[in-house]
Amino acid sequence: MSAGKERFLVTGALGCIGSWVLKTLVAEGTDVVAFDIASHATRLDYVLEADERVAVTFVVGDITDGKAFARVLAEHEVTRIVHLAGLQVPLCAADPVRGALVNVLGTVNVFEAVKAQGDCLGLVYASSAAIYAGGDAPGDGRPVPALAPAQPSTHYGVYKQANEGTARVYWTQDGVPSIGLRPYVVYGVGRDQGLTSDPTKAMLAAALGVPFHIGYGGRSHFQFAPDVASAFIAAARSDHEGAPVLNLRGSVVDMPDVVAAIEAAEASSVGAITFEQTALPFPGEFESGDLEEIIGPVPHTELAHGVAQTIDAFHRLADAGLLDPGTLARRPRAGTGAGSARSSGLSESATAADQSRNFERNHMD
Ligand SMILES: NC(=O)c1ccc[n+]([C@@H]2O[C@H](COP(=O)([O-])OP(=O)(O)OC[C@H]3O[C@@H](n4cnc5c(N)ncnc54)[C@H](O)[C@@H]3O)[C@@H](O)[C@H]2O)c1
Repeated sequence: MSAGKERFLVTGALGCIGSWVLKTLVAEGTDVVAFDIASHATRLDYVLEADERVAVTFVVGDITDGKAFARVLAEHEVTRIVHLAGLQVPLCAADPVRGALVNVLGTVNVFEAVKAQGDCLGLVYASSAAIYAGGDAPGDGRPVPALAPAQPSTHYGVYKQANEGTARVYWTQDGVPSIGLRPYVVYGVGRDQGLTSDPTKAMLAAALGVPFHIGYGGRSHFQFAPDVASAFIAAARSDHEGAPVLNLRGSVVDMPDVVAAIEAAEASSVGAITFEQTALPFPGEFESGDLEEIIGPVPHTELAHGVAQTIDAFHRLADAGLLDPGTLARRPRAGTGAGSARSSGLSESATAADQSRNFERNHMD
């Protein structure tokens, strides 16, 4: 390896967060290898300019193939890894076996490859706020403490929790350091997978002048995709020893606040964006503990600014004829519960288990 040469590898690089990680690294002139099972994703075209894409080395590969992944790591002399490849809640619910293969085995493959290579300087992987279930909240309106025990209620959450255990064991047994970051609701250009992409789809709909119904409500952390990308890059560079897992913070808001931010950014959308009152089957708010102590200052774009920037970007893409209208194709509107009523937690009439069963059943798109 050439001395001092920093080179990132990003798995799941063609996803939403991955695209923003690539953009950020290219902008600062850092070498980056993009590893993804897909060879092309529209979201990459949305986020990176053509001259930014040519600065990236693209490798098509499947994270479930550990040997192939280890070869890529060695061939490209990678020094830092941002591991994002994964299947989200609806895909894990629809195919738990494939979900486990990609999310759990895929993560073990990353750690094995890093252990074998021996000189990778930084590894950060995406866990998720979904390791918590609604019942894990203190119940008195306080945020979930940073180190609270978690009992995930979805396959996806269980797989992410398994990855955190994997990271801990690779540190204690093999001395492989890592950082796990738990995003919650990431929004911004390129966000199009899973139910929590609905707020971003609503921003797209507002830019296109069409109505949109967000399929959930309640309170959660909203995290602007470029900020999340910067946090992952900072974590990969932190040179921290150990295997901490950290909750990412963001704007902690109720869904009406999100709709209001969209309406403020796009006046023609007033009344056209509605939402279900049912909250996600996860707690509304988390503490982030030692996040900044471990990875340094974390950028935070206020919701109003992030939403305005996202809608502006969608306008520019639409004007350039680059928007894929299929992005807004979705399940039919549920008919009840839409409107501006606030829902700041789990429905009191349903248990956390009921909530997550309904969540997985209703959101297989
Ligand atoms: N977006 C969020 O709000 C959010 C919240 C919490 C956690 N996360 C986690 O962050 C990570 C990135 O999220 P995102 O929104 O960018 O996801 P995304 O769905 O937009 O992208 C995931 C990427 O992984 C790739 N991928 C899937 N299977 C693969 C395989 N077998 N081998 C290689 N690549 C594969 C996909 O092609 C895709 O480009 C995921 O692990 C996700 O679970 C995201």
